[in-house]
Amino acid sequence: MSTTGAKPAGLTDETSAAQAVRQMFDSIAPRYDLLNHVLSANIDRLWWLRAARHFRAVLERPETAVLDVCCGTGDLTMALLRHRPRGARPILAVDFARQMLRRGARKFGPPELRFANSQKRPKAPLHAMLPYAVPIEADALHLPLRDRSLDLIVTAFGFRNLANYEAGLREFHRVLKPGGQLGILEFSEPGGLIGRAYAVYFRRVLPAIGRVVCGKNGPYNYLPISVGNFPPPPEMLALLRFTGYGDCAWQPYTFGIAGLYSADRPE
Ligand SMILES: C[S@@+](CC[C@H](N)C(=O)[O-])C[C@H]1O[C@@H](n2cnc3c(N)ncnc32)[C@H](O)[C@@H]1O
Repeated sequence: MSTTGAKPAGLTDETSAAQAVRQMFDSIAPRYDLLNHVLSANIDRLWWLRAARHFRAVLERPETAVLDVCCGTGDLTMALLRHRPRGARPILAVDFARQMLRRGARKFGPPELRFANSQKRPKAPLHAMLPYAVPIEADALHLPLRDRSLDLIVTAFGFRNLANYEAGLREFHRVLKPGGQLGILEFSEPGGLIGRAYAVYFRRVLPAIGRVVCGKNGPYNYLPISVGNFPPPPEMLALLRFTGYGDCAWQPYTFGIAGLYSADRPE
């Protein structure tokens, strides 16, 4: 099966593509959260919460090993943490852009990090039991994790940026336990009238707002291009099956502007 990956601004080799993606996210990290919420009119919050809710049965079990890969500034991680009980095993939160991960760690990190400069630090021993995530700076295509070690991998709006989608799915498959689950929340391009109206917003208005707020051309031009290059749901589902996943499904969110792929590594 022929598959590809993200190709920012005409780069064709995977190493340069990954490097360009990392630099781009590092450069927009200070404005990332603000722009995300403005450009999506806060609908992104609902998408993260909905995706996390989909996996609540796994998340509610304290001993499960959970990874948020391409966690960025950590909003999906925070949504996942809402379902973790007190004293649960920490979630692992991986990203290769240091500036994104640093911002994420201030939201979801261990209490010493999260409440370092805050009056809101809960009193001991309560804070010791707060569910949290461990930030790990690493490439999603080379996870520093053992084979068959995770019960759940979730990723939001990061998978599309991988330099090789098939390699990404194979790497996730490697670290999932048999029976483990995968969730990929990604944009897609809806059809029909809504799709046409949305395309105008996504391809014209959104890059212009991004340019003004960010003061840079590249990143918000890259966003619609990267969504356009990403396989549509039937192809993505075929790729999931091809790389060994079972029970593959896609659930559209908000008219199919985004959607959740879910699958598992068969027993
Ligand atoms: C659009 S942001 C999404 C962040 C977060 N998950 C969210 O929903 O807001 C994409 C993130 O994926 C990360 N990323 C892209 N390719 C990656 C790779 N190969 N390894 C690790 N992180 C990667 C980027 O650094 C960036 O932080």
